[in-house]
Amino acid sequence: MASSDHRAATRFLHLSIASLFASLATASAVLTSTGLSVRLNNVDYYISPFSSGKVFVPKCSLKKVPEVVGFKPVTVVQGPLIQSDLSQLFSNWTLADDVWQPAFSEAIFMAESQCSYGRTNSTSIISLKNTQIPSGPYFLEVATGSLYPVYRLYEDFAGAFTEPLIPTPDGRFQPLSAKIPGSSSLTVGVPSRLYFTKTAEKPLAGVRLGVKDIYRLAGVKGSNGNRAWYNLYPASNVTGTAVQRLIDAGAQVVGLQKTSQFANGETATADWVDYHAPFNARGDGYQDPSSSSSGAGASVASYEWLDIAIGSDTGGSIRGPAGSEGLFGNRPSHGLVSLDSVMPLAPTLDTPGFLVRDPYIWDAANAVLYGQNYTSLASEKPKYPKRIYTVGFPAAPDTPADKLLLDFVSALATFVGGNTTALDLEARWSATKPASAGKETLRELLNTTYATLIAKEQTPLVRDPFYHDYAAAHSGRRPFINPVPLRRWAYGDSLPSSALEAAYAAKSLFQSWFNTQILPPSPSPDDDAECSSSLIVYVGSDGSQFPRNLYRGAPGVPLGFGTSRISVFAGVPDSVFPIGEVGEVSGITGVEEKLPVAVDVMAAAGCDGLLARLAQELVEVGVLKVPRAGGTLEGGEVLMRRGVLGDIWQ
Ligand SMILES: *[C@@H]1O[C@H](CO)[C@@H](O)[C@H](O)[C@H]1NC(C)=O
Ligand SMILES: *[C@@H]1O[C@H](CO)[C@@H](O)[C@H](O)[C@H]1NC(C)=O
Ligand SMILES: *[C@@H]1O[C@H](CO)[C@@H](O)[C@H](O)[C@H]1NC(C)=O
Ligand SMILES: *[C@@H]1O[C@H](CO)[C@@H](O)[C@H](O)[C@H]1NC(C)=O
Ligand SMILES: *[C@@H]1O[C@H](CO)[C@@H](O)[C@H](O)[C@H]1NC(C)=O
Ligand SMILES: *[C@@H]1O[C@H](CO)[C@@H](O)[C@H](O)[C@H]1NC(C)=O
Repeated sequence: MASSDHRAATRFLHLSIASLFASLATASAVLTSTGLSVRLNNVDYYISPFSSGKVFVPKCSLKKVPEVVGFKPVTVVQGPLIQSDLSQLFSNWTLADDVWQPAFSEAIFMAESQCSYGRTNSTSIISLKNTQIPSGPYFLEVATGSLYPVYRLYEDFAGAFTEPLIPTPDGRFQPLSAKIPGSSSLTVGVPSRLYFTKTAEKPLAGVRLGVKDIYRLAGVKGSNGNRAWYNLYPASNVTGTAVQRLIDAGAQVVGLQKTSQFANGETATADWVDYHAPFNARGDGYQDPSSSSSGAGASVASYEWLDIAIGSDTGGSIRGPAGSEGLFGNRPSHGLVSLDSVMPLAPTLDTPGFLVRDPYIWDAANAVLYGQNYTSLASEKPKYPKRIYTVGFPAAPDTPADKLLLDFVSALATFVGGNTTALDLEARWSATKPASAGKETLRELLNTTYATLIAKEQTPLVRDPFYHDYAAAHSGRRPFINPVPLRRWAYGDSLPSSALEAAYAAKSLFQSWFNTQILPPSPSPDDDAECSSSLIVYVGSDGSQFPRNLYRGAPGVPLGFGTSRISVFAGVPDSVFPIGEVGEVSGITGVEEKLPVAVDVMAAAGCDGLLARLAQELVEVGVLKVPRAGGTLEGGEVLMRRGVLGDIWQ
């Protein structure tokens, strides 16, 4: 360095220091904890920045308990319990909770206990006066006596989440600031299950919930699957009615989850330009996760630590992922709960529902989400309709999937004490359609109805204000949009505005015909439990491969009418039941891998509770099995997942 440069540099340094001190006189440092990540016996944990309360810590009582940056792992045991019960309590906890582990028990805070220090083991028992702090694992800040809740950290190896979250004490959310070292994925934190107790007011206490990234949460930025949207808009100030009901009932939101863009259907190979499509856990691990509730399906199929995810279904966005990943899932009756603070695709058709493994959690969550519009039959023995219609079922058990499907409907018929009849919807339409309907077949009448409704409703509600706001913020620019929504919106633009009226008319015509002629309510209205005149079963997923690496055609317009559109237009509940899986040689691994087979079951409008109860009872009698998370419906490793902690994660 030349000496003149050096002098200039020195002068600059003096000036900088001077200005630094000048600013020091006025500025104050705002230091905020965003939590802390630690590892205890090879398990990664996150220490919440929000304390659960304080305890009195007698001097020297915790000498032997390990400590990092002022925190020690401890256990709180509330309730009338004596020390000799502890080992049984802890073995119960080990089964019930994946967060607590024996390493938290070197210091135990217990009510009404004499302080003692185990001589034969290294356990300190410390007397606890504070009865407000729930039992479970905590990190104790030794200097203050504050106890902080513990989250276990998991890798999102399925790429299902967009933003892992923790709740804040004011009822909002903030991003989880934790990362499992070396992981190539986002890290998700789950609170100990021991903190939560189910009550009548909190039927979902501790239930871990993923939320599709179209539901706005207070304090959180949303994306709708679009990066420009995420960057443009600030965090929401409110949580919408639907998710707030789940939170109020005790559900623990662990993060926002991926949606295909603006909840339009996309395939993994090329459509997911802004975000990478999540990975389907089943089979070879490279099957399309289906969409648009893709993160919901991939996460519930991949992670035993997640209980349930809320998605949305306009044209199959819950049923598709549930079928292809072997989960229970429901498109509910239309209009059961307000969708304020949820991005619309087409309000005329949009519905909020769940993807879940356990049909009891499913029913409890439905009851909370749909409130008075849902009748839980969980503790009843309902009378099921005896007439079961099948649509698109195989005639003979020619393949293993066909056999599963036929065995299922036959077991269902036996269970309800009825019989099955194939339903030919076009023939029924032609025989019983209203006089006003004209000559058209259903395929003709409803050919463009779905495509028209989603494009014509979403463009003014979502696209136009977004383009306007983006242009205002970015000198007239247009934001990037994935090919699928762009194609669908362009289709909407190509139609005259009269097309929307025609679509509403076609939808209403079909809906009132179907709900009176084909699937009316039970003819015995006094019998609450029966509810529906019949059940309609169709093939949801036949176990065939739909690999995510296969190039498909350019996106088109979702024209046509098929069985999966019935519930969309008729507004009736349509639930996915996983019935088994079939093996086929994978084009990727070269060996046989199993993929789920699933049916969809429809009931009359408003009979949502009947379908969830049917799922429970079919599990109870062994016709259905509760699916596990993992590579198959029985569990097992997810193939080719990328994870740093594969050997200790079970
Ligand atoms: C442990 O669980 C068993 C079975 O649910 C229960 O009977 C027992 O009371 C529990 N023990 C403690 C100490 O909580
Ligand atoms: C440790 O030993 C003490 C007695 O020294 C006993 O009271 C306590 O229950 C033991 N703790 C555990 C977790 O076994
Ligand atoms: C956000 O909500 C809080 C109350 O929850 C209110 O005080 C605040 O003004 C709101 N902010 C905006 C920007 O609406
Ligand atoms: C029940 O459904 C009706 C009709 O869609 C709706 O107006 C009402 O708000 C719903 N009730 C609740 C409790 O959400
Ligand atoms: C199917 O069940 C209905 C009602 O139980 C009965 O009337 C009908 O005869 C049955 N049909 C066949 C083919 O068994
Ligand atoms: C559906 O609409 C498309 C595009 O308008 C048309 O090409 C096709 O023939 C129609 N199909 C039926 C069954 O009406």
